[in-house]
Amino acid sequence: MSSLSASDVRPQAAPAPSAPPAAIKVQNVSITYQSALQDRQTLVGTLSRLRRRRKILREVRAVRDVSFEVPRGTVLGIIGANGAGKSTLVRAMAGILPPTSGRIEVHGRVSTLLALGVGFDRKLTGRQNVVLGGLAAGLSREQLAAKYEEIVAFAELEEFMDMPMRTYSAGMYGRLAFSVAVNMEPDILLIDEALSVGDAHFKRKSFDKMRELCESAHTIVLVSHGMNAMRQLADEVLWLHKGQIREYGPPREVIRAYKRFMRVEDDDQTAEEDV
Ligand SMILES: Nc1ncnc2c1ncn2[C@@H]1O[C@H](COP(=O)(O)OP(=O)(O)OP(=O)(O)O)[C@@H](O)[C@H]1O
Ligand SMILES: [Mg+2]
Repeated sequence: MSSLSASDVRPQAAPAPSAPPAAIKVQNVSITYQSALQDRQTLVGTLSRLRRRRKILREVRAVRDVSFEVPRGTVLGIIGANGAGKSTLVRAMAGILPPTSGRIEVHGRVSTLLALGVGFDRKLTGRQNVVLGGLAAGLSREQLAAKYEEIVAFAELEEFMDMPMRTYSAGMYGRLAFSVAVNMEPDILLIDEALSVGDAHFKRKSFDKMRELCESAHTIVLVSHGMNAMRQLADEVLWLHKGQIREYGPPREVIRAYKRFMRVEDDDQTAEEDV
């Protein structure tokens, strides 16, 4: 950060026209989970713990002092190993999980697709869940009625909408979740791993839909292990490592560094994971 000079102090300088206002500002955010832990790692220890029912709390510092901004209309990709803190960070941006410290500002209406349809109630039918999801996202009944057919048609689940969602396969569940999230016309879309939804046909379709959204004026935060998708969709990539920002910058560079670190090359095995 540059130091203040005399000219900075007097009239407030207007932001440079080239710098779009931030849709999301994350400032020094840390998130710590507290979870119960076994007091011994041995079998004997586990058995005695079961007898005594003693619990030890362990703290997991999932996100550590992370700061960044997502300018309006841009796509931020978040990558990192399993357990790096990506989902935790996105949950905090969605307002579901309060940060332990730091501050998150979000400007605009958010639609979230977290871990495939969190928020759906499996006892309810697909139709009921879409209606509830829409109302929760702030749509009026009229707007929702207009959107409903679109959502169902995109998910290709017309025949299943009046069945309880517990009877859906995992792919069907994910398709409806994806379709609801992308059709809500949000200002800001937060997506965690959505590109791995469904079969090959739906993967292609959801990728095309994502590309359409990314190219439009939407602000998108996308968490994925699919590096090809990241390279194609993201404007900037943030690599999270053990809760901290390891690198932040142009997709190609950050992904190259990440792959080198993870020792994965673009072979058939990893390419299959990518869209
Ligand atoms: N509800 C929870 N309670 C306690 N610890 C949690 C909870 N959720 C996540 N964690 C821990 O926080 C850390 C970050 O988890 P997180 O789910 O954010 O990782 P991730 O980067 O999304 O990983 P993945 O690539 O596997 O989705 C991990 O150490 C995990 O064990
Ligand atoms: Mg995750």
